[in-house]
Amino acid sequence: MAAPSQLNPVEFLRHKRDGGEHRPSDISAFIDAFVAGNVADYQASAWLMAAFLKGLSRQETLALTQAMLHSGSVLTLPSVKRARVDKHSTGGVGDKISLCLAPLVAACGVAVPMISGRGLGHTGGTLDKLEAIPGFRVDLDAKRFERFVRDVGTCLIGQTEKLAPADRRLYALRDVTATVECIPLIVASILSKKLAEGIDGLVLDVKCGGGAFMKDLKSARALAQALVSVGKGAGKRVTALITDMSAPIGRTIGNALETREAIEILQNAGPADTRALTLELGAEMLVVGKRCKNRKEGLPLLERALADGSALAVFRRLVKAQGGDARVVDDPSRLPQSKTKLVVTAPKSGFVTGIDALALGLLAIELGAGRTRADQKIDPAAGFELHATLGERVQRGTPLITIHAASPTLARSVEARVARTYSLGTRVVRKKPLILARLD
Ligand code: URA
Repeated sequence: MAAPSQLNPVEFLRHKRDGGEHRPSDISAFIDAFVAGNVADYQASAWLMAAFLKGLSRQETLALTQAMLHSGSVLTLPSVKRARVDKHSTGGVGDKISLCLAPLVAACGVAVPMISGRGLGHTGGTLDKLEAIPGFRVDLDAKRFERFVRDVGTCLIGQTEKLAPADRRLYALRDVTATVECIPLIVASILSKKLAEGIDGLVLDVKCGGGAFMKDLKSARALAQALVSVGKGAGKRVTALITDMSAPIGRTIGNALETREAIEILQNAGPADTRALTLELGAEMLVVGKRCKNRKEGLPLLERALADGSALAVFRRLVKAQGGDARVVDDPSRLPQSKTKLVVTAPKSGFVTGIDALALGLLAIELGAGRTRADQKIDPAAGFELHATLGERVQRGTPLITIHAASPTLARSVEARVARTYSLGTRVVRKKPLILARLD
């Protein structure tokens, strides 16, 4: 089947509808025309559905990524002389890792320019967690972004109007045309934004399990492989870890609560799984940034930066630079606190055999910790504090989880459903490993 020689949007659509493979130049012309307003939203939507149904090859995905990347400005961060490496997570419940990881890796000598997102579906967003810190600004321009990456070692902001505008417009169409769950479209969407940050390399945390978008290892592996392959095709050093998301990460869900936990990690404390995941991703970032040869060399550097306070010092500088109240770093009780705290206790004695991360993520949205519409205001203090986690033994009547809510009525409205997210059994279950697979 011959590809269309000149871009005619209708022929372009027909080509994909009939299972053809696009030439990179046609994909680029289509995206340029879409951004310029010469391809209508209904035509772009029809193409997205055709791509969803017929798929895109690696070459097409790479061409789409490049076209979306170059639809806006691409940062180069010339004044940042250190290696620049970012991390991207495909989204989980209780995933506060970016908040502690970015300053930790920066403290070890690799710069971390990070453009993050807000909550998506049942998963939380880094920007919402940072904004729980009074005064913290995530809407910085490219100049200040570069200055803080250079001087502080890291900066975390939201996507600006100028970065990958094709992704913003295509994502809005995908959201309402049932074309989100498509690996090539997800890959182009994620990578076009990440490549616009001026990075040398990227570490991907592809979440797998009930609380993730990828529920099983096969689909998580397919996404990870596509991300690594297209990222490398774009000339970047890329590694992916597939990590377990069958239960929430750490002991907190909700913006201020998660920020507090991330600070605890930087204070060389905090839950073991949050710390372990931070260290594993950090070691990968140091390898990608050529700060060390392998993970084994990277881990002690990171542990030292937690123990000697240098990672916490970078976080303090980051908060100050981005306009936040840096006193929270030493006194997290200054973070927003909920008016109501309702403790849910174990209905019987036994071992915790399961915690439904997806259900808790959705219940957190009901408490106001996330959004169901883009214009909704969130409650930074709302969420859950987990007292018992997978594999732990509990006695009847001991606390399982505390609901943090704006009112007793709101807390009580979710209480019974929160209690049902815990499964208790007579035998201890074997925990899944934190890292399910590694791809590079
Ligand atoms: N996150 C993104 O940025 N894009 C997608 O398509 C899915 C998740």
